[in-house]
Amino acid sequence: MSSKNIESHLVEKRVFKPSKQFSKKARIGSMSAYKKLWEESIKRPDKFWAREAAELCWQEPWKKVLEWKAPFAKWFIKGKINVSENCLDRHLGTARQNKAALLWEGELGEKRTLTYQQLHREVCRFANVLKEHSVKKGDRVIIYMPMVPEAAIAMLACARIGATHSVVFGGFSAEAIRDRISDSQAVVVVTADGGYRRGSVVGLKKNVDDAIKDDAQTIRSVIVFQRTNQPVSMTEGRDYWWHQEVAKVNADCPPAALDSEHPLFILYTSGSTGKPKGILHSTGGYLVGAYTTSKYIFDLRDEDVYWCTADIGWVTGHSYMIYGPLANGATSLMYEGAPNFPENDRFWKIIEEYRVTIFYTAPTAIRSFIKWGDHWVTKHDLSSLRLLGSVGEPINPEAWMWYHNTIGGGRCPIVDTWWQTETGGIMISPLPGAIPTKPGSATLPFFGVDAAIVDDNGKEVGPNVGGKLVIRKPWPSMLRNIHGDTARYKEAYWSEFKGVYLAGDGARRDKDGYFWIVGRIDDVLNVAGHRIGTSEVESALVSHPVVAEAAVVGRPDELKGQAVVCFVTLKEDVTATDQLRDDLKKHVRHVIGPVATPDDIRFAEALPKTRSGKIMRRLLKQVASGGAITGDTTTLEDLSILSKLGSSED
Ligand code: WTA
Repeated sequence: MSSKNIESHLVEKRVFKPSKQFSKKARIGSMSAYKKLWEESIKRPDKFWAREAAELCWQEPWKKVLEWKAPFAKWFIKGKINVSENCLDRHLGTARQNKAALLWEGELGEKRTLTYQQLHREVCRFANVLKEHSVKKGDRVIIYMPMVPEAAIAMLACARIGATHSVVFGGFSAEAIRDRISDSQAVVVVTADGGYRRGSVVGLKKNVDDAIKDDAQTIRSVIVFQRTNQPVSMTEGRDYWWHQEVAKVNADCPPAALDSEHPLFILYTSGSTGKPKGILHSTGGYLVGAYTTSKYIFDLRDEDVYWCTADIGWVTGHSYMIYGPLANGATSLMYEGAPNFPENDRFWKIIEEYRVTIFYTAPTAIRSFIKWGDHWVTKHDLSSLRLLGSVGEPINPEAWMWYHNTIGGGRCPIVDTWWQTETGGIMISPLPGAIPTKPGSATLPFFGVDAAIVDDNGKEVGPNVGGKLVIRKPWPSMLRNIHGDTARYKEAYWSEFKGVYLAGDGARRDKDGYFWIVGRIDDVLNVAGHRIGTSEVESALVSHPVVAEAAVVGRPDELKGQAVVCFVTLKEDVTATDQLRDDLKKHVRHVIGPVATPDDIRFAEALPKTRSGKIMRRLLKQVASGGAITGDTTTLEDLSILSKLGSSED
């Protein structure tokens, strides 16, 4: 994020107190109630978390709440628990049995409702399908699906039998699937013939075919849900139709008793170096985290219609579309498609029609809505909304104010929730009935979260001094490891400050202790709320035969937060052309997926480097943003290169 944004944070003086009406009903209704519980959660975490965990159903009780041998935590030791039982069976035989668990709307306007009872039945059947395909406890299953209820069903079915799912976002390519299969050693892929996105069909099955065409690796079966009915190729003995498989099994599938530390899922995310990291999450601790944060931060009630717009392929889709809301017995809405299909008011239409009460989306979406114009919003009745949420990147105060006034009608609290794939659940956020909000600040840490801002030596800094965001105590939904790479786990998160979790974000706290997140401090970009590692894009670029070297940096972007700018040097005798620029963009889309498409490709004769050969990213960032080059340039190998880059036209 640019320093301009940091400044606008610094002058932010507006404070919005929760309304009396909201606070009166909320679970945590005052700042003093928050402080009291937070103190307890930090001083006596065992007591706090045992009380929260006891609200869930355990097949066998835990013996000890926490075992912390930094950087390895175990929560609810020896407890046995099943996530799908907590999300489904727990609500059967109660008033929630026939309540909508999932409300689904397809991009084309189709509607489906699955009650808790119906969802339970579908999950049990699909769990039996997985068993028929010899999926055993601990096996990995890749889920590469559009936003249809079957994606949730597949996740919950894995959880039911103790298979570890790894959802791959539909915007990733065949190569990305291949890498994830190879890293996770998955035995089954669950996919669909295709999915709808902005009116066109995305060929998901085709991507899976391409991923395993030369080498199926560990994959034994591919189960294909029929969504679009487009023709797809089915390989005999490997590919099976979802509807045919579920027709063969019954709906009797008791939830497996799983150790609290059993791996629930792996979700791949970008880091600053190398290939994506398989973030490994546990069963008991993760669920307690997702459940507790959903309960207090969204203040979920039985009568709510809760809508999180995230894709199931991201952690937000895991924790706050599926596991957190369902563990709370909430009604969670799932929409398949784009916000601007068929027109720019699709979201507002949905809110009006379903009487959505809680709406959770990303700043990048909010900025698009602002751009599209208020008239798309004002023609709809959004009076059902009572709470708004934001996640994925820092929300600029202007977007916050628009969200507050135009969507929230000035009456809905906004929870700006800071967290990460690694943290499993929300870490810093207002509690809507208790904590006054300031536009652009994620405010205060959630229960049990000991967050701080430190300098390069690990020393806590004073008010309004920028530094690194760290978490000093373990929390239940924290990642347990990087799948298959403990060394990287230690190195990436725990090596800079001993026993302290390094988030990779820069931030500051104001005099009230409020956190203001500035953005990533490593080589990870945040493009439209999606994490993209610059090194991944660089290696995609250099895998193209004409590219000699590549350096990728972020440039502030009004809509997406950051845009992907690539500096490329070409091999000898290759001429830079517009055609080549397009080819390279396509190449990156092919290797990583549309999510990482470069916004700009700039050809250079050489990249600016230090004497030791390190690419000077700081300078490239300045060039990319069109800013003047400042600072020390004496370590540059060749200064003329820099000026050439600075004036390069694209
Ligand atoms: C950023 C998404 C500011 C941050 C849940 C973090 C945020 C990265 C916020 C994690 C927020 C997320 N304010 N920045 N409210 N929420 N971020 O793993 O840089 O996809 O490190 O998890 O998004 O992205 P991830």
